[in-house]
Amino acid sequence: MRIEGSNIFLTGASSGIGAALAVELTRRGARVAGVSRRPSAGVAVSISADVGVAADRERAVAEALGALGRIDALINNAGVGVYAPSWQCPMEELRRMFEVNFFGAVDLTQRVAPGMVARGQGLVVNVASIASKVPLPWFTLYSASKAALEAYTRGLRMELARTGVGAMLVCPGYVQTGFQGAVLGGRPPAKLVSGKRFASTAEAVARAVADGMEKDARTVLTPSLGWALVAASRLAPGLVDGQLLAMMESAGDE
Ligand SMILES: NC(=O)c1ccc[n+]([C@@H]2O[C@H](COP(=O)([O-])OP(=O)(O)OC[C@H]3O[C@@H](n4cnc5c(N)ncnc54)[C@H](OP(=O)(O)O)[C@@H]3O)[C@@H](O)[C@H]2O)c1
Repeated sequence: MRIEGSNIFLTGASSGIGAALAVELTRRGARVAGVSRRPSAGVAVSISADVGVAADRERAVAEALGALGRIDALINNAGVGVYAPSWQCPMEELRRMFEVNFFGAVDLTQRVAPGMVARGQGLVVNVASIASKVPLPWFTLYSASKAALEAYTRGLRMELARTGVGAMLVCPGYVQTGFQGAVLGGRPPAKLVSGKRFASTAEAVARAVADGMEKDARTVLTPSLGWALVAASRLAPGLVDGQLLAMMESAGDE
């Protein structure tokens, strides 16, 4: 798609990857409607809404359409994690996470995609994670929510293939943002926190996503070295699972 001159509905624009994306897309000539609970800086329209609440999603789309006239790209970037083990995590926390990470994205797509289909162009970008391809034991339920988003994105792309509307999946690796501080429950393994120096920046992810949008990419996995982990996980799942488990256990019961 052509970012210059486009109108983009971006969730999770108040922080991290979304905030960097708002800057990058604006720099490339888009008008961005940033949607999050806290205000988004530097966007054409800042809409305060909880994407985990259906009434807020409905209002946010109406406000964005009112301000921008049409939506050329929907970027479902807002997301939260839960560190609690899957066999202990309160169901309420799990449902809340899926409402933000998965149902919110599907609902926003249902609200926005019909307009795109009617115009014969548009793009839906879903920000999943490398955890959608390689489940992380300290993040089992989060991985499941992102795997659902990945399967959904792939199916949506096929459903819309003849309409001129695309769907792109984004799978970031570890990115230095406020994400870990915003989890709904549980705590990460200490080793993961100490591995922060290996994290990529939100700005690098934002550039990769914007490049992917302009190239009509299917998937943006960043950093691209992550593909090696994905391949290893497909070829030798037992080995990769063992390494991930060792990484979690070596961190102790944090
Ligand atoms: N950081 C990583 O290592 C990493 C790796 C892979 C994938 N990701 C994914 O990247 C996306 C962005 O995460 P980030 O790292 O940039 O984290 P972040 O700094 O915590 O930003 C998350 C954004 O999502 C918004 N958000 C969260 N819950 C929301 C809700 N209920 N309603 C509306 N907005 C909500 C937050 O805004 P408010 O709090 O203002 O509502 C914030 O703008 C997420 O989908 C995450 O799963 C992150």
